Amino acid sequence: MTVRFRAAHDQIALFERAQLPDGVARACFNESHLPPIDGLADAIAAEIPHLNEYGGRTDAALAHIARAHGRTADEVILGSGSMDVIRTLIGSVCEAGDEVVTSWRTFEGYLAACHAHGATPVTVPTDADGAHDVDALLAAITERTRILLLANPNTPSGRPLTREQLDRLIAETPDRVVLALDEAFSEFATSPRAAFGAPLFTGGGTDLPENVVVLRTLSKGAGLAGLRVGYALAAPAVIAGLSKSRAQLGVDRLAVAAVEHCFSREGLDQIEDRVMWIAAERQRIERTLRDRMERAEIDGRPRIDIVHSDGSFVWLPVGDRAEALRDHLVDAARVLPRAYAGEGVRYTVIEAEHNDRFIDGVSEWATRR
Ligand SMILES: Cc1ncc(COP(=O)(O)O)c(C=O)c1O
Repeated sequence: MTVRFRAAHDQIALFERAQLPDGVARACFNESHLPPIDGLADAIAAEIPHLNEYGGRTDAALAHIARAHGRTADEVILGSGSMDVIRTLIGSVCEAGDEVVTSWRTFEGYLAACHAHGATPVTVPTDADGAHDVDALLAAITERTRILLLANPNTPSGRPLTREQLDRLIAETPDRVVLALDEAFSEFATSPRAAFGAPLFTGGGTDLPENVVVLRTLSKGAGLAGLRVGYALAAPAVIAGLSKSRAQLGVDRLAVAAVEHCFSREGLDQIEDRVMWIAAERQRIERTLRDRMERAEIDGRPRIDIVHSDGSFVWLPVGDRAEALRDHLVDAARVLPRAYAGEGVRYTVIEAEHNDRFIDGVSEWATRR
């Protein structure tokens, strides 16, 4: 090969889509199983005659998002998915070799984004249940650190930050370090103790701290992973800085039209209903599995500790049995969750009939030996 990639490029794992056997439901990518909300197709179709033009109704879309968060439009930036904004952030503030502190395990897209920009990811082990270790994260900040990047709730565990932890992170992250809170799954949270940056700053009564960037996406709750649209909330000066690094008029017109529809009253109501259904279904799955594991323990058989997830997914920390459980679920339940070798299995909540088969498949596997 004659083309030479930068050295860090070798460390980026090539993304390979999982092969889906026939008749097996996909529960491995944390996508929504639901079709787009009512009215979305029409909102997008109305933009099609304008596809010869650059841009779109970006100002209107930004205003809609800002209103939903009680902020102003100059505190919002759009991207082609939240990963696009995260990459922009890393590329904008990190010189080669600067450090981005994050937990591990977490969303692996962060590592690729660091390597793509020559930044060095510094990973801090999570607690045993997959929650962020805030003491260790703060202690990992050095002179080279430019960003502390956290998924909240974390993935694949679904464990959220508590209000006390969030307050500490905001208070103790040095001003020169960006605290980037990736709240991709926050709308699914039901834990009373879970705390998030977006609602903390809703209402505009307080200024957004200059070093806090909150990232949100329409890929999860709004179910538009294929449209690629996400956004960040941050202080106006930070949004202005990030805008410089984004290709001019960088989000496509169809995505912008979708944002406007999703953040209309009609859109927000529909999305809320869907998110509530998924969160309730996740709780049903977890509760049923926990009950069955209790019974398994009474019978003296091994059990799976099911920690409460606040994401759109269930986390089964089965350690080195992860791939065996995944294979069993494909064969016996006809669902494909994601196996994290040596750690566990993450199952995205999908249609109830598949979730029922997942529950039966896990119970059967956990109690048969
Ligand atoms: C924690 C987290 N952040 C961001 C993303 C990517 O979101 P987007 O589709 O908005 O780029 C994902 C995708 O699964 C994710 O798990």
